[in-house]
Amino acid sequence: MTTNNNLSSNNPQNVTDYPNNNTYFLVWNLKEELPQEQVQGVFRRVCALIVNLNNSALDRFPDSKASCVMSIGYEAWLKLDLPKPLPKELKSFETIAGVKHSAIATKGDLHFHIRADVKSFAYDMATVISGFMKEIADCVVEVQGFRYWDSRSILGFVDGTENPHGAERGYFAIIGDQDPAYKGGSYLFVQKYLHNLDAWKSLPVEEQEKVIGRSKEQDIEMSDEVKPKNSHIALANIGDDFKVVRDNMPFGNVATNEMGTYFICYASTFTTVEKMLRNMFLGDPVGNYDRILDFSTAVTGTLFFAPSMDMLDEFGG
Ligand code: HEM
Repeated sequence: MTTNNNLSSNNPQNVTDYPNNNTYFLVWNLKEELPQEQVQGVFRRVCALIVNLNNSALDRFPDSKASCVMSIGYEAWLKLDLPKPLPKELKSFETIAGVKHSAIATKGDLHFHIRADVKSFAYDMATVISGFMKEIADCVVEVQGFRYWDSRSILGFVDGTENPHGAERGYFAIIGDQDPAYKGGSYLFVQKYLHNLDAWKSLPVEEQEKVIGRSKEQDIEMSDEVKPKNSHIALANIGDDFKVVRDNMPFGNVATNEMGTYFICYASTFTTVEKMLRNMFLGDPVGNYDRILDFSTAVTGTLFFAPSMDMLDEFGG
């Protein structure tokens, strides 16, 4: 792969869109033992495929809002010999260990975020991608998220209300002049959370509302006088100038009793996400950690970089 990243344009991937009804989240790790040329060859093919799938979805079913965003982890970036210097804040995410809860770091080479209004569309995209990827990588995380009622998390609270809207989505999610070589790109941070729903459901609704900092039925924010300092939104809100675009989706498996939230956000700078995580897991002040974590365990945690669509196209050759 070349070290030339002087690209002529920088259209982003579909990172600012709203969550759709059905989502596949896939994390793949590259196989160790394969020859470099083979891995790079398939990687190039997959980059071209993602551009193709997005164009095709737009052309064939423009109203479906179907898309796939492909992102690359730090180790994979090096292994695939992608352009240097790297995106300024791309690194391996390291565990943030609080007194009681940890945001664990897990390995992830490539991430695919597939959104569609109907599941068939998302399924087809996932299987086509997998058809190529399985030659060079193993799928280590698959989460199929779904829209739960009026955009609620599986905890029953509306999730996404205070996300940036309109032009702010691009401002907070997409890299601009701060890293010219990677303009149009985005940092992607993901965590798979499992919830202890038995414990959560045994809390009276008024107590659940204190955990989140908003009312359950009406989705109204508590006033600062009433909102507990260890509520989720008190700790996750780090100021109006520091936001990310969240696309969380709930998932649920009755047989395994795995009910959870796939936390996913796109950001123009990873520092913002890190600050939110530190507030939640270490606490602010230290020890005042996010009460949502008493009911939610992060079982994965990985940072990726979503190059612009034009850069993906270049990678595709
Ligand atoms: C256990 C997984 C999580 C669940 C179920 C969850 C759910 C929620 C809910 C229900 C809200 C209130 C409505 C809204 O504004 O969206 C919210 C707000 C928010 N969450 Fe989370 N969240 C989770 C993890 C995280 C993580 C890991 C971060 C950051 C790294 C985060 C950042 C935020 C932010 C920035 C807000 C908006 C705060 C405000 O300005 O009011 N969340 N989340």
